[in-house]
Amino acid sequence: MAFQIPRGTQDLLPGETEKWQYAEQVARDLCGRYGYEEIRTPIFEHTELFLRGVGDTTDIVQKEMYTFEDKGGRALTLRPEGTAPVVRAFVEHKLYGSPNQPVKLYYTGPMFRYERPEAGRFRQFVQFGVEAIGSSDPAIDAEVMALAMHIYEALGLKRIRLVINSLGDVDSRRAHREALVRHFSGRIHELCPDCQARLETNPLRILDCKKDRDHELMASAPSILDYLNDESRAYFEKVKQYLTMLGISFVIDARLVRGLDYYNHTTFEIMSEAEGFGAAATLCGGGRYNGLVQEIGGPEAPGIGFALSIERLLAALEAEGIELPIRQGIDCYVVAVGERAKDEAVRLVYELRRAGLRADQDYLGRKLKAQLKAADRFGASFVAIIGDEELEKQTAAVKHMASGEQTNVPLGELVSFLTERIKWEEE
Ligand code: HAM
Repeated sequence: MAFQIPRGTQDLLPGETEKWQYAEQVARDLCGRYGYEEIRTPIFEHTELFLRGVGDTTDIVQKEMYTFEDKGGRALTLRPEGTAPVVRAFVEHKLYGSPNQPVKLYYTGPMFRYERPEAGRFRQFVQFGVEAIGSSDPAIDAEVMALAMHIYEALGLKRIRLVINSLGDVDSRRAHREALVRHFSGRIHELCPDCQARLETNPLRILDCKKDRDHELMASAPSILDYLNDESRAYFEKVKQYLTMLGISFVIDARLVRGLDYYNHTTFEIMSEAEGFGAAATLCGGGRYNGLVQEIGGPEAPGIGFALSIERLLAALEAEGIELPIRQGIDCYVVAVGERAKDEAVRLVYELRRAGLRADQDYLGRKLKAQLKAADRFGASFVAIIGDEELEKQTAAVKHMASGEQTNVPLGELVSFLTERIKWEEE
């Protein structure tokens, strides 16, 4: 029986993994520049954390969690997202007591959601995210959005759009919630069963319904922006002012409510506008979550963050036809003809590698011609050929593959010769 990979997951093979490493490295470097440090939390957590953190009326908690009981009878869940775990760690390790405030963290790793797999939607996907906890300065909202946009721009994406909204504070949200209930209750039977349930549990989520998106009640629904109190409006104004000041363009979408319960004030998404992108066009989502730290048992500490999916980031790069500048090929392939030369090649390749060069050789007993072909397939910049004659003279015939130019180099000088030439080639 041949095994197949579980639905909604993927294998990343060489050729792909380099792109992942590259993208993650760009994101890591930028996080460092913005003062965010890496945090690593477990892949699974107590289920209760997500019920509290993400919200027990959300789709994620109700339909999408991979929950299991371990042999000790504990209810555990593969993390569907990173914010609740990071906040749990923030509280557990009392990072709120650290002298460096706000605490600025980033993370990357697999997340798990039992969703219907389609293009850009997986059951295991990798998020790169940041969380800034301990400040309610609108400048940090702008910083977090600037960082997300900076990551995409650094990788070369052009066709992206930042969409923002404000959900306001608790009072504004309550006023809006009441208005939504008034708006929908008379005709709620026209909407899907999920929306009918949401009217009781979480009316804001009705606005995010995929099935009833085009129903006229949606377009005429009260806008949160009309229910922001003075303080919330002033906060949102300041966030917008900072974005404008930084030259980051954005559009406001009052219907942007996001799928997690912990948000208030700023919410945002970054979409790809590249052609052929469709349903999975949301590359990144985030927002402010004042109150979540308390909900998870910590002191009052406001927070904001985002998470982007690497799968969708790479898909967006492909849709825009952007090739990442990934270094391919090796520096030197050592071709050996004959028993003694083979032994010398084993030694030489190790020496080249120890000196910092990418080197390889034949392990399949190929003939000279086939070894040269292999060197070509490896994308070798140089080939060093040794046979009986070269061994006699203690030299290697070194061929520069791009020009075809060939030189005899004493074996004792091979490392320095190649190091120099490679350095020169790269400049
Ligand atoms: P989210 O919107 O649920 O937010 O997910 C963030 C991003 O993860 C989405 O914009 C999307 O790119 C990606 N994503 C979500 N589900 C999938 C999937 N099934 N397959 C591929 N990619 C997916 C959060 O998770 C929040 N924790 C973000 C945040 C951080 N808010 C504050 N801090």
